[in-house]
Amino acid sequence: MTLPSKVRLVEVGPRDGLQNEKQPIGVADKVRLVDDLSAAGLSYVEVGSFVSPKWVPQMAGSAEVFAGIRRQPGVTYAALAPNLKGLEAALESGVEEVAVFAAASEAFSQRNINCSIAESLARFAPVVEYARSHQVRVRGYVSCVLGCPYEGEVAPEQVARVARELAAMGCYEVSLGDTIGTGTAGATRRLFEVVGREVPRERLAGHFHDTYGQALANVYASLLEGIAVFDASVAGLGGCPYAKGATGNVATEDVVYLLQGLGIDTGIDLEALVAAGQRICDVLGRANGSRVARALQARAG
Ligand code: HMG
Ligand code: MG
Repeated sequence: MTLPSKVRLVEVGPRDGLQNEKQPIGVADKVRLVDDLSAAGLSYVEVGSFVSPKWVPQMAGSAEVFAGIRRQPGVTYAALAPNLKGLEAALESGVEEVAVFAAASEAFSQRNINCSIAESLARFAPVVEYARSHQVRVRGYVSCVLGCPYEGEVAPEQVARVARELAAMGCYEVSLGDTIGTGTAGATRRLFEVVGREVPRERLAGHFHDTYGQALANVYASLLEGIAVFDASVAGLGGCPYAKGATGNVATEDVVYLLQGLGIDTGIDLEALVAAGQRICDVLGRANGSRVARALQARAG
């Protein structure tokens, strides 16, 4: 199998990363993070979420963050929008793309967005239609693709069904989320084999949380399956408010280092990215979750 010659990284740190932090984070720090990431060469940044502030308080200031960032040409600034109310707010903030998010397990769907999988898909259809009528592209997520915190194993066929529906309703890309990070390289390859029969691989992305330390291996396994888009979070920030114990996404720095070693260019300045990650870790008072960042910083003394 030849590896993809180009890979696109979707930076989810400001959203998936910060949504799970307990302490308040000021708008200025969020803005600085987004601007640091675009300056480091990330071409896609998920800036925030237009969801209920009662459900995810940390994302309440997303409109202010959008208003504060310095938009760079060639960078896509995106946000989550679970319903029409969220989409309206997202459009007012001038998002370039939105994402809707479904789950492959019924229990997670209920806990995360308070409805069944079928209800969520029915709710997303008009969101996708309305967004596209405003020339805003829509990305789809499927959570719990390699395991659910409430139901345990999840069949790849079930993931394929949800992914197919999202693609059919107009999501240009569907990101498969290992929300709790239990997936292994073998399971990841099987997943893309099965889902790839329903949705073309060039329309699929990988989103791996690193709870079991398998995320980077899962990225490599996905590359072997021809997947060329990955979500990652600077400094490995994050977790999931509805998946107890789940840690952050694979660190963007670590994915960039992996790709550089494979001769796959991402256009990202690793040194600037490490600085961006360390800055937000200092603000949060948390350890840097990127092994590459820690190694480079140790070498620099
Ligand atoms: P609900 O309670 O069923 O909604 O929540 P509702 O329509 O009955 O509304 C209830 C209240 O929420 C009302 O306010 C609405 O106005 C308000 P009240 O009258 O009580 O004052 N409301 C909103 N407010 C702001 N923005 C909105 C909005 N919608 C309703 N868009 C809902 C349903 C989906 C809104 C809720 O469950 C929710 O916001 N959930 C958020 C879930 C979330 O953000 N999870 C984390 C992101 S997903 C993720 O991390 C996984 C991913 O990374 C991939 C992976 O790792 O697997 C993507
Ligand atoms: Mg996630």
